[in-house]
Amino acid sequence: MCGIVGYSGVKTVRQVLTDGLASLEYRGYDSAGVALWEGNAVTVIRQQGRLSRLVERIGTAHEESRCGIGHTRWATHGQPSEVNAHPHRQGRVTLVHNGIIENYLQLREQLEKEGYVFQTQTDTEIAAALIDSCYKGAPLEAIREACGRMEGAYAFAILFDGHPNCVYGIRLGSPLVAAVDDTGAYLASDLTAILPYTSRYLLPEEGELLALEEGRLSCYDGSLRPMEPVWKQAHWSVEQARKDGYRYFMEKEIHEQPQALRRTISPRIADGLPSFEVDGLPAGFFGRIHKLYITACGTALYCGMVGKALIEKIARLPVEVEVASEFRYRDPILEPDSAAVIISQSGETADSLAALRLLKGKGIPVIAVVNVVGSSIAREADYCLYTYAGPEIAVATTKAYSVQVAMMYLIAILAAGERGLADDQEQRRLVAGLEEAVERTPQVLAMGDEIRNYAKGLKNTESMFYIGRGLDYSLALEGSLKLKEISYIHAEAYAAGELKHGTLALVTPQTPVVALATQPELLAKTVSNMREVMARGGPVLALVTEDLELDPGACDRRITIPGKSGIFAPLLLVIVLQMIGFYAAEERGCDVDKPRNLAKSVTVE
Ligand code: F6R
Repeated sequence: MCGIVGYSGVKTVRQVLTDGLASLEYRGYDSAGVALWEGNAVTVIRQQGRLSRLVERIGTAHEESRCGIGHTRWATHGQPSEVNAHPHRQGRVTLVHNGIIENYLQLREQLEKEGYVFQTQTDTEIAAALIDSCYKGAPLEAIREACGRMEGAYAFAILFDGHPNCVYGIRLGSPLVAAVDDTGAYLASDLTAILPYTSRYLLPEEGELLALEEGRLSCYDGSLRPMEPVWKQAHWSVEQARKDGYRYFMEKEIHEQPQALRRTISPRIADGLPSFEVDGLPAGFFGRIHKLYITACGTALYCGMVGKALIEKIARLPVEVEVASEFRYRDPILEPDSAAVIISQSGETADSLAALRLLKGKGIPVIAVVNVVGSSIAREADYCLYTYAGPEIAVATTKAYSVQVAMMYLIAILAAGERGLADDQEQRRLVAGLEEAVERTPQVLAMGDEIRNYAKGLKNTESMFYIGRGLDYSLALEGSLKLKEISYIHAEAYAAGELKHGTLALVTPQTPVVALATQPELLAKTVSNMREVMARGGPVLALVTEDLELDPGACDRRITIPGKSGIFAPLLLVIVLQMIGFYAAEERGCDVDKPRNLAKSVTVE
């Protein structure tokens, strides 16, 4: 993620940049920085932490500067520190970047041979050096040549020594917009930074170049031929633009799942096989252990339950899953030759961090599955497998859960290989199954109307149940949590076979039951449980994969999950569950993104 902004014109740039970054802060807030043209020199100011700290540090200085670039960071390569903060400067080039340069290590080696010395672990510093090494006095030529050698995704805003009051921009795979008003020219990662000044904007195509020179904006195609800008008109308010036109962050984040999943799995698949080499996890790690402990809280715990089912099934490695707040206080008996996985979106959950410390203290190697780079859990774990969901703003987690689950598949498949239970061919077959499920996620996102229709009927519901068996039970737990935390409908999840041991007494025509049925070997049993509910007048919604036949008499309503039944169905099923929670909350007029009594990062025990 990360947000970038640039301006050249007659206004004091300090204010334009920090206002722009404030509206982009949702894209990341590990550090912030600006680079300002002052006369013929560039001044760089960087600060770890939130933008407010940078604003405080700049104060009322640099009043005369009229051109510059700014950045708010969501760390990918390198800790969130001042030295890793953007802008980065190498030679005569100063730049800010949003994206990931995949071949940066290879480029770094080449540039080191040319004499470049690097201060950071970031891919961005490499990009600055590469552009500098291509710079012979003509900025656009240098950008074009350097970008030709980069692989990955980027949006850059760049300053070149010798070209004061100018900013140059380009994008590939990362967003960038530009605009002009009667004071000057702007560029930014998204419209929110520009909308306070003008609603007319342009979206450069991939590989096109932008030059903001002394307040004027010029566009060039990939061959550096000047182009007429193609203007668009925004019909969004600033707040709507921040949400990309969605009404709520949760809705936007639900819809970001296909990209988040691809971003998370693709660096960990090499030649069709799972690999955590990029994360520094030693090869053969899972072959050397006899037990795995997974501990986490809330939704992350439910992901751990999916992990247990997958790892035990595919890799036959025994897994114990436990809620971190219990695990840390019960003096657990930990077996030798074991390892642990801590799952946490924020990487700051107090109980999960305490569980990690307990495990490490007992000599158990810990792998963290974390979304926020440089967070406490990521730093303290022996190994960290970062999920690349991007910043999650809504309190109820959605995309961060899906990418955690994707990581569980990769761990399970890799462990199966390392434990001799799956040869390369079988591992490739499983990885292809995972990729296929990821590619189907947009199909579920397109089912909004059908799901909203069901959720409308929950408007006055006070209590409901989610039931399922096996993997479906773990998903039922997540579905019921999603519903209750944002819609305030009381919802409980039960292993489908358990309902009749007491809870069935609560089922009436006023208690809807959502039955999850995506595991073929358990279907018949789940159907019996659905019939038990129907017989007591409970309205049953069945969530069933498209390849499973279901007797229509077993439910009142069916929503069909696209794709195959079996172990990869959870990735698709969970989106339906998230949407049921979201639409029910919306229908009931709840504050979807900020549910009462809750916080995004739970740093108290
Ligand atoms: C529910 C939710 C929480 C978190 C839990 C753990 O939607 O978001 O249940 O999953 O607080 O948080 P992390 O993953 O940050 O450790």
